[in-house]
Amino acid sequence: MASAIDELPSSLEMVKDDVIRWRRHLHRNPELFFEEEETSRFVYDTLQQFAGLEVSRPTKTSVLARLTGGFPGPVLALRADMDALPIQEETVFEFASRVPGKMHACGHDGHTAILLGTARVLAQVRERIHGEVRFIFQHAGELHPGGARDLVEAGVMEWVDGVVGLHLWSPLPVGQIGLKAGAVLAAPDEFFITIRGRGGHAAQPEVLVDPIVTAAQVVINLQHVVSRQTDPLEPVVLSVTQFHAGTAHNVIPPKVEINGTVRTFNPALRAEVPRLMERVIRGVTAAHGADYELRYEEGYNPVINDGPITARVREVLIQAFGANAVREARPHMGGEDFSAYQAVCPGTFFYVGCSDPEKGHCPHHHPLFTINEESLAVGVKAFIHIALRLPGEDAL
Ligand code: NI
Repeated sequence: MASAIDELPSSLEMVKDDVIRWRRHLHRNPELFFEEEETSRFVYDTLQQFAGLEVSRPTKTSVLARLTGGFPGPVLALRADMDALPIQEETVFEFASRVPGKMHACGHDGHTAILLGTARVLAQVRERIHGEVRFIFQHAGELHPGGARDLVEAGVMEWVDGVVGLHLWSPLPVGQIGLKAGAVLAAPDEFFITIRGRGGHAAQPEVLVDPIVTAAQVVINLQHVVSRQTDPLEPVVLSVTQFHAGTAHNVIPPKVEINGTVRTFNPALRAEVPRLMERVIRGVTAAHGADYELRYEEGYNPVINDGPITARVREVLIQAFGANAVREARPHMGGEDFSAYQAVCPGTFFYVGCSDPEKGHCPHHHPLFTINEESLAVGVKAFIHIALRLPGEDAL
């Protein structure tokens, strides 16, 4: 009797067009984080058409499907995020966003379609699956505190032995897959600084405390935290991304608002950076007679891939795609709430190349972002091989 893996090529071919169609439907109708009502309804209705799945709604804007195999075994969770971004799309595809100011500019439409395709193929070979496969269609990957935390709280990870997620990745050409054990995505924290001076007439700076000049010094000196005060072998990014002040050319304003992000992998360094920042801010503002407030908010935890699962997934992907297609991923200072699942059980998060080798790549979160849709079939094939091989071989 042929194994489920042997029958995959025809199943994949059958589902390929549907996956593209689902992705385009989602792309046309993007919804932002925590608002994925139509998206989750579409996912729920589509999953209902596949026999053998137990489909539920753990939260208002998420969907969970459970598939119990014909053999005993562990529980594997596969995850897709479903949210779009507040970006005005500038592509001219016939399936471009119909919603002004909202766009699937990170590829989450593709993730959702890939997981739907995976569920459809696996449901067809349910009898030959070991253990249980859980399909997690998650809301709000793009905005802290993220949807993963809600889903963990709602119990979707109960009894799960391993969790695997993927991201379509435009720095990699289609056909290539990147993965890596250890730290792959950073902890994205956010800071808010208010510098208060004493505002007044711009012609009389000597009787005022100019918060703009002081805040400009703060921004410059904060760059020294990374370049002079932290270990050069430990990655850290400190970016000031907003600087707001003033209303007129002849008025020195009373305050400046600064906002930005800090990215780290190392937990000790993560805890240390706000202290180093505050020392700089305190010193610079004191030198200029200004006051300050610093608010520092921790974002997602870093994504740290489990060694044994990552090694096993690598073997499975090499068997499925060949050694030349599977590369060691580069860590990235972006953030992902996939880490919330990894806090509960071992897991790995990998990248599926999605750029067109001829046209080069457009960065994620860009108004012209798009994917080469061949990458969708790569994602489905990867997830299916992982779901069929990992549990059956007691790798979880
Ligand atoms: Ni993303």
